[in-house]
Parts: sequence; structure tokens; C-alpha cells
Amino acid sequence: MITIVNCKAYAEATGKKAVKLAKVCESVAKATKSRIAIAVQAADISAVANAVSIPVFAQHVDAIEFGAHTGWTLPESVQEAGAVGSLINHSELRVPEELVQKTVQRLRNLGILSVVCAANPVEEERLAKFKPDMVAVEPPELIGGKISVSKARPEVISESVRRVRGIPILVGAGIHTAEDVATAKRLGAQGILVASGVVLAKNPKKALLELMKGF
Ligand code: G3P
Repeated sequence: MITIVNCKAYAEATGKKAVKLAKVCESVAKATKSRIAIAVQAADISAVANAVSIPVFAQHVDAIEFGAHTGWTLPESVQEAGAVGSLINHSELRVPEELVQKTVQRLRNLGILSVVCAANPVEEERLAKFKPDMVAVEPPELIGGKISVSKARPEVISESVRRVRGIPILVGAGIHTAEDVATAKRLGAQGILVASGVVLAKNPKKALLELMKGF
């Protein structure tokens, strides 16, 4: 089971605070023998990757090559900074499907893990054909809320498991409790993608420890 903690652009997980949160994730990973990765803003990858030994992910990369592309995020650049993976097509940064495919290929050629996000099982099944390393399904309307996908839309998890074979499935949106995690696991998910439940928690360490009980 894998957990990806997504820092998004939250103040609580930007710059030095991203490093601090990554250290919390690392200590919980060690204490619970869990696989926990952290997805940070591009500008924070280097500092975070230098500070911790858990996997660091980019939140987005562009399928561009070296050259004249001002302001875009080059896969080679996040890799050199220390990222071992990247989210693609997150609900908050959607990209056209042909670019999802191109990005997955770019990352595969570089040996960077790809986690392709989808809003629902049908989209997830389509995007899984590009053979990313993992897929993640997150109903957009539940993202950032208090009610989890496991509670409100468990069928999204089981339907994803039914449609996508041979690629680990992560689920996310509103995950806050060990029970949310346990339900996701029971329905066949191989991991979770979580942001506000950890990043915005009064005590992120306690929140993450609680989630790990669900595995
Ligand atoms: O990438 C994870 C995310 O979109 C879920 O956010 O705040 O509902 O855990 P949250």
C-alpha cells in the first residue's frame, strides 16, 4: 500500500514547511513501516529531496523537451532536483488526453514514476491504456472536503478496480480517517492520495499516523 501526501500550494506545505512536513512523513513511514511519498511544488523538490529519504514527487510536469519553453516544467529538471515521480492530470491541473499520453511516455523514458489522475472510473480506464505506473481516481466534488470518497462514493473505488487491471489504483478526495483508508483497501485500492486531511491538520503527524492504521 502506498500513500502520497499532496502538498498542493497550501501555505502549510510550501518552502520550509514542505521540508518540515516531508520529515513528518518520513518519520511516520519509518515508525509504521509504510510506503509514504510526498508530492511537492516544483520549487520545493530540491530542498525536500535533500532533506528526506522518502520518495518525492512533482505535482505536475509538462511533456516538453529541452529548449525554448519559458515557464514550463521540464521532466529532466524535476528529476535532477530529486523527484522520482510525478502526478499527471490532477483535478486541479488537467491536461488534454493526448498530453497525458505524451507525458507518461516522457516519464517512462526517463525512469520517472507516473501517477495519472482521473475524475471517475470511466476516464481512469481510458487513461490507464497509456500504461502509467499508477492511476488515481478522485471525484472532484469531494476533493478538499470532509466526506471521503470511501464514505460518499465507495462505488467509484470498486468500479475502478473492476475497470483497471494490472496497474495499482490509488484513491483520493476527502480522506481523513483510518476507516476511510480501510474501506479503500477492502474495495481493492492499493493506496491513497491525500492532501487536506494531513496538510491542514492541526497535528499532521497524528493525522498521518491515524491514516496508517487503516492499512
Ligand atoms: O491529490 C490529492 C487530493 O486532490 C485530495 O485532496 O484535500 O481531498 O485530500 P484532499
